[in-house]
Amino acid sequence: MREQLEQLKNEALLSVNAAGQIEQLQEIRVRLLGRKGELTALMKGLGALSAEERPVVGQLVNSVRDEIESALESASAMARERAKTERLQSERIDVTLPGRCTSTGTKHPVSLVIEEVCDIFAGLGFSVAEGPEIEHDWYNFEALNFPPEHPARDMQDTFFVENNLLLRTHTSPVQIRTMLKQKPPLRIIAPGTVYRCDSDATHSPMFHQIEGLMVDTGITFGDLKGILTVFTNQLFGQKTGVRLRPSFFPFTEPSAEVDIACVICGGQGCRVCKNSGWLEILGAGMVDPEVYRHVNYDAENISGFAFGMGIERIAMLKYGISDMRLLFENDVRFLRQF
Ligand code: DAH
Repeated sequence: MREQLEQLKNEALLSVNAAGQIEQLQEIRVRLLGRKGELTALMKGLGALSAEERPVVGQLVNSVRDEIESALESASAMARERAKTERLQSERIDVTLPGRCTSTGTKHPVSLVIEEVCDIFAGLGFSVAEGPEIEHDWYNFEALNFPPEHPARDMQDTFFVENNLLLRTHTSPVQIRTMLKQKPPLRIIAPGTVYRCDSDATHSPMFHQIEGLMVDTGITFGDLKGILTVFTNQLFGQKTGVRLRPSFFPFTEPSAEVDIACVICGGQGCRVCKNSGWLEILGAGMVDPEVYRHVNYDAENISGFAFGMGIERIAMLKYGISDMRLLFENDVRFLRQF
């Protein structure tokens, strides 16, 4: 029996040494020390021994078990340590790697200009008004004093929807809608999309305008010039020169076109300003009494001015964009720059 114990111990220590993983060590423990294990089976033979031998062999069994136990114990500790090191290696995170960024969008230059223009006019006491993009002929033309034979009514410029419905060709009908709803004094700014049957490097069939209207008692052409000078100075910089040229619009009298000194060449003359040193940026004028008649305003006792500008043109000048189509192609390489 001593020999059997000795052999069992030697075999046990060999297989413990050979086992690399926790699971294998557990198997060995069960196989040798478990209730149906080999050592337990040997112990059953103790009963057959003599009274003198029994305690001696019993002690031997205990010491063999202790030795196997402690060999298993230290092998398990090593195996656990090894497993932990392996896991830490495989799960290692390199915190110096650059992170994966989710790309955020930027505001479209047209939106940026609309926001900036509205902000400037908000500071001058103007509030934002809106109107529909599909408009009645009456608001888009008739009430704005366009005679029936006016060229702007020509099919070339206007997209007609049906009978008296069309895609608004300008934001000026918002003037009419506002005056029909509100009595003076009023100060509004109306940004929005407009449509014209026209398309090239500087024209798009869909584009944006901002309309402005101020009506009160005693408003003069001087107020118009003052407000628009403050506006252009804020938008393009304090030193930007401004000039007004006589012009014609059916809904204003007198009418003017407003130019700023060329932002590209500073007034020296270049390709963008066609060597004139000036850039036209908006149309304006004193509201024609005929317009007041259509909205039931008392033209004798009030007066006001209106103006309108194209947003894409202002965005192109402000950001140095040479082709309007870039604004609508939605190429992110272009849009990301703003
Ligand atoms: N509606 C004009 C256009 O589309 C722009 C304009 C000019 C608006 C003069 C006005 C104005 O309010 O007074 O070209």
